[in-house]
Amino acid sequence: MTNSGSIQSTLQETRKFLPASEFSAQAHISSEEQYQSMWQKAKDDPAGFWGELSQELQWIKPWTEVISGEMPETRWFTGGQINACENCVDRHLTSWRRNKAAILWEGEPGDTRVLTYNDLHREVSKFANVLKKLGVNTGDRVTLYMPMIPELAIAMLACARIGATHSIIFGGFSADAVADRNNDAQAKIIVTADGGWRRGKEVPLKSAVDESLTKSHTVQKVVVVRRTGQQVHMQTDRDYWWHDLMSDVDPHCDVVPLDSEHPLFILYTSGSTGKPKGVMHTTAGYLLGTTMTSRWVFDLKEEDTYWCTADIGWITGHSYVVYGPLSNGSTVVMYEGAPNWPDEGRFWEIIEKYRVSIFYTAPTAIRAFIKWGDHWPQSRDLSSLRLLGSVGEPINPEAWMWYHRMIGQERCPIVDTWWQTETGAIMISPLPGISATKPGSCTRPLPGVVPEIVSKEGTPLEANEGGLLVMKQPWPSMLRTLYGDHERFKQTYFSTIEGAYFAGDGARRDADGDIWVMGRVDDVLNVSGHRLSTMEVESSLVAHPAVAEAAVVGFPHEIKGEGICCFVTLKTADSEGSDSLTADLIQHVRKQIGALATPDKIRYTAALPKTRSGKIMRRLLRDIAAGRESVQDTTTLEDLSILAKLRDSDDA
Ligand code: WTA
Repeated sequence: MTNSGSIQSTLQETRKFLPASEFSAQAHISSEEQYQSMWQKAKDDPAGFWGELSQELQWIKPWTEVISGEMPETRWFTGGQINACENCVDRHLTSWRRNKAAILWEGEPGDTRVLTYNDLHREVSKFANVLKKLGVNTGDRVTLYMPMIPELAIAMLACARIGATHSIIFGGFSADAVADRNNDAQAKIIVTADGGWRRGKEVPLKSAVDESLTKSHTVQKVVVVRRTGQQVHMQTDRDYWWHDLMSDVDPHCDVVPLDSEHPLFILYTSGSTGKPKGVMHTTAGYLLGTTMTSRWVFDLKEEDTYWCTADIGWITGHSYVVYGPLSNGSTVVMYEGAPNWPDEGRFWEIIEKYRVSIFYTAPTAIRAFIKWGDHWPQSRDLSSLRLLGSVGEPINPEAWMWYHRMIGQERCPIVDTWWQTETGAIMISPLPGISATKPGSCTRPLPGVVPEIVSKEGTPLEANEGGLLVMKQPWPSMLRTLYGDHERFKQTYFSTIEGAYFAGDGARRDADGDIWVMGRVDDVLNVSGHRLSTMEVESSLVAHPAVAEAAVVGFPHEIKGEGICCFVTLKTADSEGSDSLTADLIQHVRKQIGALATPDKIRYTAALPKTRSGKIMRRLLRDIAAGRESVQDTTTLEDLSILAKLRDSDDA
């Protein structure tokens, strides 16, 4: 298990913080009894519970059955027809909300745009017509590889409007990663931009798309948003400017009625093998999950200004920048760039400027803020904030306390939300009106979520015993399959523990029943809140001509949570790697996967420590990478390997 430093500190954590009574009084879920009765009802009668809540959505045709089939083949709201875009946009047009800001957007250079729900409706309808004109049909896959600009949200919702399944690729991924994902999803078109702004530099997206298209052949058309104005190559009859297409298209587009289980999107995420998994979510269940959790966890109210800092390229952005808040008719802040551009106070400036009331970010960002210094938030007026959230990795108590004091000014509840790409929506989290929060604990399951902590054999564990976190009951927003590989879906999530969903985390429950997630128990790293498989980095390294073998492990990193340490053996007899080779290998991995996979350390060794059966001893390597083993400079890995063989050599 990784991040042992923070596990140590969470084991000793005893502080508790109760919500202020004024907050509780106005919250959507405002009493313990209310929570208990919701949770119990959802457990005992899930069909009744979710069936009632489904009335929160607008249906085209009512469903006939809430839940059918056993996990993992559960289907939700059978017989119903619905459209996610209609729920996020059109249904707000019948009231004064029509003129409410849906998106308050700020570009990194400081340019701004406001889109009301009416504006959003017009732009989305137009782009849906553009997609149709380009030959996109219901059921086709559309790749979106874009910066954080309103056109990304518009393109998603336009896909949803006509029932095209979007597959968003985070802008930090490389051309190769784009090609792999396009091929796997068999995407018909790709929407991109010339580039995006990040720390004052232009991130070239269109040129990466051009490169990816030499390796992926299903893509027929490319739509390009002009964002940075940089020079790009436009291929006739393949590449089109967004603004040209939008200038002459009908602003009216009917929504397409879609079955509840129609695939809404695919989102690739790292698993414990090298090949990314295409997590597939469907329409009604996902929408209901994100709609309700947005309301329960963020306590969303009509007048809130809500800002989730995640990039839409990740699940957090899908669920809590776009679908969840827009389905609730909220005003969402969207920011294009880096938190430290032009200076380290940018986020606090944005909060002050837009009077943000709900702020949702990641522990890695919080740790960076701490390092940058208190004077940045202190020099801004943060009094508009009423609730803070955290997501993506376990939050260390120190970062939690700083967030609580410096940003929340001891006034704002903190919701530490545990969930995954696969779960679609938040699963375990404090409810801000009732929960006693504890620094480092995501506390209790939301209504409809029935977690258990079990041993490897599946036996439920006692309080404070660490084990595997599993889900015993299906929930509406769970993934339905891995695109094109249903076997892998069953194998990955439903074969470890009989009759339960398991997606790779270790956790414990304390004596109060609160859950503490400790981190991944598989070979998945969590680098700055981004999932990355060690195998992905390893296969990239061994594809380099100089490398014979590679083993990649995580190590505790002050800002990133986990850093990437690569142990490498070379093909040439002498194992001494040079500085220039190190630079070359780092560049190679960045090129193959993307900047998010940049190795922090490359260590050369003559051989990798292995068990008798030839398995790489990762635990030993993790200890070395973390500096936990008192490794003498002269000690080689072979020596350690022998040492480890003498001890228990079964490295799990
Ligand atoms: C980790 C992000 C502890 C966990 C929404 C999970 C967390 C993985 C938390 C999913 C949290 C996410 N506390 N760990 N509050 N939130 N994680 O798919 O290891 O990018 O399995 O989804 O992040 O990452 P993913």
